Amino acid sequence: MAQVVLVTGGTGLVGKAIEHVINTESVGSKFGKQAGETWVFVGTSEADLRDPEQTRKLYEKYKPTHVIHLAALVGGVYKNMKYKLTFLRDNILINDNILHTAYTHKTAKVISCLSTCVFPDAVEYPLDETKLHGGLPHHSNFGYAHAKRLVDVQNRQVAYKEEFGCNFTAAIPTSVFGPHDNYDLESAHVIPALIHRCYLAKKNGTPFVVGGTGRPLRQFIFSYDLAKCFIWMLRNYDDVEPVILSVAEEEEMSVKQIADAIVKAVGFEGEYSFDTTRSDGQFRKPASNKRLLELMGGFEFTPFEQALDLSVKWFVENHDMARTGKTA
Ligand SMILES: NC(=O)c1ccc[n+]([C@@H]2O[C@H](COP(=O)([O-])OP(=O)(O)OC[C@H]3O[C@@H](n4cnc5c(N)ncnc54)[C@H](OP(=O)(O)O)[C@@H]3O)[C@@H](O)[C@H]2O)c1
Repeated sequence: MAQVVLVTGGTGLVGKAIEHVINTESVGSKFGKQAGETWVFVGTSEADLRDPEQTRKLYEKYKPTHVIHLAALVGGVYKNMKYKLTFLRDNILINDNILHTAYTHKTAKVISCLSTCVFPDAVEYPLDETKLHGGLPHHSNFGYAHAKRLVDVQNRQVAYKEEFGCNFTAAIPTSVFGPHDNYDLESAHVIPALIHRCYLAKKNGTPFVVGGTGRPLRQFIFSYDLAKCFIWMLRNYDDVEPVILSVAEEEEMSVKQIADAIVKAVGFEGEYSFDTTRSDGQFRKPASNKRLLELMGGFEFTPFEQALDLSVKWFVENHDMARTGKTA
């Protein structure tokens, strides 16, 4: 049967990665396009999904049978802290419009995207899928986290699955990096921010300074690997329980290891130091990918340095069109 897969947020980091994988893996292969499948990638220029009418028109235009819902107001910690209510409202509106319109248009399946950063602040590690609602989120992303958690509530606890039998579920990625990331120093996540800073240090002959001690540990998933996990979920996973999409806990990296790898990938040879007066944030917040690997029957993640090299290369080659904000 012909399938139309609509990817909201299709112009962002994760959406571009899904587009890349779908267009580069061979047709008919595990992660490649299947016969009779049409993929549509949309951003805000097609519809502002905060608006129900624009959302309805988008569904009417493409008549999606399946939706990978990535669109969101996304940002690093400073932007999240500054605009908590906007993060709450915009994301609630976007998610509600997508899910309700999918229900009214009888869309066969929706996979929405949450994030491991929406888990409770006080929680026993590692994070797993059962702990999502077990306490308040960290104050820094209170608005974003509540809006994202509500998707899971809508999907199953009181709404679409129980009341209407819809096949809606959610994926929970850890931090993502890759080509087409947001490199704006005001709002970027740690890897794109450090890549951008190191690039500027090399270009301007200035020191490369990393905030904090470099000791905290973080887990990252390369956007092309995440894309494959989404494609796998779309074709193979029909449960309402969300799935954490992450590398293994043992793959945690320190901020120093990440910065070292960036220095190497950028080819920076100048002064490089850590500003220990800046806060480190949480020391570690590991998530388990046990369920993902059991469900998928294993998955080979791209080695970190290889993925980082590719991301740095993309940034250097596409600097003029990358999202670098005003400071570049
Ligand atoms: N980046 C991470 O580390 C990370 C980690 C865990 C989970 N996630 C989740 O992954 C998903 C994708 O994130 P990303 O990093 O790819 O984000 P991104 O690069 O910032 O892209 C955001 C996407 O959402 C679209 N969008 C934003 N507001 C919209 C609106 N009002 N109406 C329609 N489209 C809108 C943007 O369209 P335009 O391009 O037109 O602005 C863009 O395509 C999000 O749900 C995010 O919460 C991200």
